[in-house]
Amino acid sequence: MGWVGLVCLLMMMVWSVGGIGVNWGTQSTHPLPPDTIVRLLRDNGFQRVKLFDAEYDTLKALGKTGIEVMVGIPNDMLATVGGSIKAAEKWVAKNVTQHITSNNVNIRYVAVGNEPFLETYNGSYLGITFPALRNIQAALVKAGHNNQVKVTVPLNADVYMSSTELPSDGDFRADIHDVMLTIVNFLSVSGAPFTVNIYPFISLYADPNFPVEYAFFDGNASPINDGGISYTNMFDANLDTLAHALQRNGFADLPIIVGEIGWPTDGDRNANIEYARRFNQGFMSHISGGRGTPMRPGPIDAYIFSLIDEDAKSIAPGNFERHWGIFTYDGLPKYPLNLGTTNSGALVRANGVQYLQNKWCVMKPSARLDDPSVAPSVNYACSSADCTSLGYGSSCGNLDARGNISYAFNSYFQQNNQLDEACKFPNVSMITKTDPTPTVGNCRFNRMIQPYYGFGYAQRPSGLISFLVLILVLVL
Ligand SMILES: *[C@@H]1O[C@H](CO)[C@@H](O)[C@H](O)[C@H]1NC(C)=O
Ligand SMILES: *[C@@H]1O[C@H](CO)[C@@H](O)[C@H](O)[C@H]1NC(C)=O
Ligand SMILES: *[C@@H]1O[C@H](CO)[C@@H](O)[C@H](O)[C@H]1NC(C)=O
Ligand SMILES: *[C@@H]1O[C@H](CO)[C@@H](O)[C@H](O)[C@H]1NC(C)=O
Repeated sequence: MGWVGLVCLLMMMVWSVGGIGVNWGTQSTHPLPPDTIVRLLRDNGFQRVKLFDAEYDTLKALGKTGIEVMVGIPNDMLATVGGSIKAAEKWVAKNVTQHITSNNVNIRYVAVGNEPFLETYNGSYLGITFPALRNIQAALVKAGHNNQVKVTVPLNADVYMSSTELPSDGDFRADIHDVMLTIVNFLSVSGAPFTVNIYPFISLYADPNFPVEYAFFDGNASPINDGGISYTNMFDANLDTLAHALQRNGFADLPIIVGEIGWPTDGDRNANIEYARRFNQGFMSHISGGRGTPMRPGPIDAYIFSLIDEDAKSIAPGNFERHWGIFTYDGLPKYPLNLGTTNSGALVRANGVQYLQNKWCVMKPSARLDDPSVAPSVNYACSSADCTSLGYGSSCGNLDARGNISYAFNSYFQQNNQLDEACKFPNVSMITKTDPTPTVGNCRFNRMIQPYYGFGYAQRPSGLISFLVLILVLVL
């Protein structure tokens, strides 16, 4: 083996040690039990996982697996840990130290906040993010974790920009320039990485004129020429805009982690399985072999967003929000994806998932479409259940009116654990044991999984009382 071969081998070793990570969010009405998810992670060869909080059972399930963990501090806790060093020390003692020492969890990062400078937050977290970062780092140092556990702040890619669209003109956004430099300097001094979330899908969603091909990695987009460097995909250009922003401000060597990257499969005309696979597989191939970007050649640490669909996420950003998973809510792979791990091309489904019975709620065949209770019933069902697959261009967007109504009823019925009372839309609904899922297309009438009540904050089936009120109103 020559030098080239040796270098390649070394690079592959670095790569396989790093490997691809994944985000594990739990905003679901029926999250899979942590043990099931941890098995899913291992079966698919994920060696790194990013969490959005520090839920006890989640971390415990990750114990003794060796999987590298980024634990998160939600934005609504930033004021607490930023306001008092004691609170930060308590957070570290309970959510880091305990898990490292008693449960053997391989915690490597603490994510302080989640995209706290998003414009939609109106600057609410601007003043408290840095104090929280500083206090958590001080608490980690005091507890003796600072060599193993690094702090970071996952930021949205809009914290930097380029006035000319060329990466080489990248700099931090003017209105947050000072706070960004304070944070970046602190990360640099602490030997910690910068974490950024990059979403070509959102650019495409927000701007109908965005060149679709530029979102992907196939090289079909017309290149952007930046001083002789040619950019053919948004990811490289975006990451290098950040690299230039860092360099411009004196932090050329600060490591960058891609905290979230992915593509949703439903809830928008550009959110589908074909595009999601093309993007995620394209990304995996793009970074495989330790190839980086023009500004940051070498391996890229990245976490796919996301492991699994979350049906209780806010859809304020768009209906696609509940469909980022490479797996469905019940742990089924949505498409083949070679992660460059042991998985060799096919994702492995979740094992031992417990479903509810073979029952669905549908519109009664005898009910009339113009029955006055249809519209309020559908509105009611969709206001609490998940109807995000019904819109134009979505997986169930081609259902006829009856199919549409049945879909809404069933979604509500399943979210309420198939309780008989949750399929009593006055005169228009009935329970069936025949799966109403159409035989063609991707539209799926879900059957829910057994509820897992371990997470303190998981949503419980609710709304039945107001449902009874709805029935009363309709009957009177
Ligand atoms: C530990 O993290 C959990 C989950 O994010 C949070 O609810 C709890 O308040 C934290 N504990 C402390 C002592 O801060
Ligand atoms: C931000 O401001 C808008 C408009 O003033 C308001 O509707 C929204 O609720 C605010 N968001 C937050 C998180 O404060
Ligand atoms: C089905 O429901 C969606 C969302 O509520 C609506 O936009 C669409 O027009 C409906 N389609 C039919 C055929 O009723
Ligand atoms: C249900 O159907 C019965 C019999 O056809 C009718 O008397 C009743 O008014 C209907 N109830 C509602 C809420 O539509």
